[in-house]
Amino acid sequence: MTEHLSPGDRAKFAAAKRASALVESGMRVGLGTGSTAAFLVRCLGDRVREEGLSIQGVPTSSRTAHLAREVGIEVFTLEDLPQLDLTIDGADEFDPDLNLIKGGGGALLQEKIVAMASNKMVVITDDSKKVDTLGAFALPVEVLKFGWQTSHELIKNRLESLGLGDKPIARRMSGETPYVTDEGNYILDLQLGHIADAPQLALRLNQIPGVVENGLFIAICERVIIGYNDGTTSEQGRPVG
Ligand code: A5P
Repeated sequence: MTEHLSPGDRAKFAAAKRASALVESGMRVGLGTGSTAAFLVRCLGDRVREEGLSIQGVPTSSRTAHLAREVGIEVFTLEDLPQLDLTIDGADEFDPDLNLIKGGGGALLQEKIVAMASNKMVVITDDSKKVDTLGAFALPVEVLKFGWQTSHELIKNRLESLGLGDKPIARRMSGETPYVTDEGNYILDLQLGHIADAPQLALRLNQIPGVVENGLFIAICERVIIGYNDGTTSEQGRPVG
C-alpha cells in the first residue's frame, strides 16, 4: 500500500498502521472519518482478510461506512452496539492536553458520539496537527438548518462577548451550495486563531439554540499516535491530572 504514497500520506499511513495493531479480535471498534482514518480502515480490512481478524465496526460517517464494507469489515450502528472498546480517528489539531479540533471533514457529530461511547479514543495524525494552543484551524460547529441564520448571529455575538475571532463562515460545497452533514445539518466554521480556554468555549457554544455540537473534543482522547514523513511514528498520552 505504501510504494506510491506522498510523504504526507506516508506519515498518515504509518500512524494508521501502528494504531491498527491495537485492535484485537472480538473488539467493537469506532471507525473515524477523514484521510488518516481511511488508511486505518484499509489496514483493518487487510487484517480481516489476511489474518481472519474478527471485529465489529461502528463508522462515524456514511463515507467510512461505505469504505469499511468495501474492505470487508462488518458494520454496525450504536443502536446495535451502544458500548465500544476503542475508537480510532483523525484530528485537525491536538494540543499538549490532547484536546482536539475535529470536523474538518464534516463528521464531528457522529465522531464525538462514537468517541464518547468508547472505552478509549486514540487519535492518529501526522505531526502537522500538533499545536501549542488550539484555534489556527477553523473550529467547525454543526447547526440545525432551522433558523440557522439566527444561530449564526447568536454565535457571532457570543464570540464578540468572549473577545474571540471573526464572524462564523457557513461551509459551502461549491459555489453557494451549503455543505450538509450526514444528519442533514449545516456547518459554521469559526476563525478563532487562538482559543485560550477551549473547555469553556465548548460549553458556551453548545448553550446556543440551534447548535447541535461543536468540534472541540475536550478530555476525550487518551492517546495520539503521530506519523512522520519518513514512515516513523511516536506516541503521546494524555497528561495525568
Ligand atoms: C472529520 O470530520 C474530521 O474530524 C477528521 O477526523 C479530521 O478532519 C482529520 O482528517 P484528515 O485525517 O483527513 O486530516
